[in-house]
Amino acid sequence: MGGGPRMGAAQGEVDRRTDPDVVVAIADGMVLGVGREPEVRLVLEADGRNLDRFAILDADGGTVTPGLIDPHTHLLFAGSREGELELRRRGAAYLDILAAGGGILSTVAATRAASAEELHGHGRRWLDEMLGHGVTTVEAKSGYGLDLPTELRLLDVAHRLDDEGPIEVSPTWLGAHAVPPELRGRPDATESYVRRILTEQLPGIAAQGRAVAADVFCEEGVFSADQSRRILEAAAAYGMRPRLHADELAPSGGAELAAEIGASSADHLATPSEAGIEALGRAADEGRPVVATLLPATTWFLMKDHHAPARTFIDRGVPVAIGTDFNPGTSPTASLPLAMTAACLNLRMTPDEVLAAVTINAALAIGRADDVGSLEPGKQADLVIWRVSTSRQIPYWPAADLVRTVMKKGKVVLDRG
Ligand code: NIG
Ligand code: FE
Repeated sequence: MGGGPRMGAAQGEVDRRTDPDVVVAIADGMVLGVGREPEVRLVLEADGRNLDRFAILDADGGTVTPGLIDPHTHLLFAGSREGELELRRRGAAYLDILAAGGGILSTVAATRAASAEELHGHGRRWLDEMLGHGVTTVEAKSGYGLDLPTELRLLDVAHRLDDEGPIEVSPTWLGAHAVPPELRGRPDATESYVRRILTEQLPGIAAQGRAVAADVFCEEGVFSADQSRRILEAAAAYGMRPRLHADELAPSGGAELAAEIGASSADHLATPSEAGIEALGRAADEGRPVVATLLPATTWFLMKDHHAPARTFIDRGVPVAIGTDFNPGTSPTASLPLAMTAACLNLRMTPDEVLAAVTINAALAIGRADDVGSLEPGKQADLVIWRVSTSRQIPYWPAADLVRTVMKKGKVVLDRG
């Protein structure tokens, strides 16, 4: 069997035990011990337990990893935007499509018109697919409502999906994803929406109590760093962890802001400034790391030829996570293993770094490093058995179905025998 990442240096140290005698002992949904059989036997005995009485699930030469964590998805939306693929293929820019009323805004129109049941059915369909890719925990953003009733509906559906399991869904409020159509055209449109967010939307979201984190699309021409700061500080005062879409298309002060306000994650970071990289490096040095959550499937789908400086972040001690950014515009893939391949090819990360990026560092990005993201005593027993002999083959076989078994909280929730 193979090993999984454990807490360690910023990028997580991958513990790749290949000894066939390694066992993971599990009870009550939790990991009790990991190691060679005699060691685990002793650990269990000290706890009054006998390893011989445990049911056995044999990895049978496959690789065992922690359940994957997708730390950045826009899981809930209605409709699709295949037309934009054609527009971009002919040279249209992402923000120009948005400015013309397409992009995020076309998904907003479809999502506002969708019932909770429709959104739930859509979420269930894609979560099932994610489970098949070995994902056991996901972050899910709102952000296709841009008005209080729809944002509440999206967060409520995310919460319901979480409740139903088996994948855990961590809801993030992204009210500041774009300026809604009803305010566009006014000279002060963005600022009016920011005020509306602060006075109406955010208090309503906080009162509902579903969102555990808040996000803002901080980007030139969308929300400025200053507007993002005001929204995220107000959300933090309600107990929502700040994170942000930062420096995706142009350096916009997003990385600097993430470090300044102690965001748990700064996402995209395809074009951070030198000062932004330095600010994230300093935050890591000072023991208050902001996870650089990089989204290479998006860069690929947007046909960009420059990529987030993952190697610089890793060398500077900034923890790097990888997500799909699953959404109908810039990344219509729910496959985290595919994003892992893109991370190796385009971000020049090693397969071991990428495994840490979709497990322990992804857990850190969503504020769950204490209970998921590695196979360690005291953590949830979320794991995957892969049909390959080493975890290094997971990114090596793009778009292959490599998952054999998925276990969530100690229960087998997917078994392809
Ligand atoms: O992370 N950049 C902003 N938001 C999403 C895309 C949303 C959309 O195009 O629908 C992203 O890429
Ligand atoms: Fe995103």
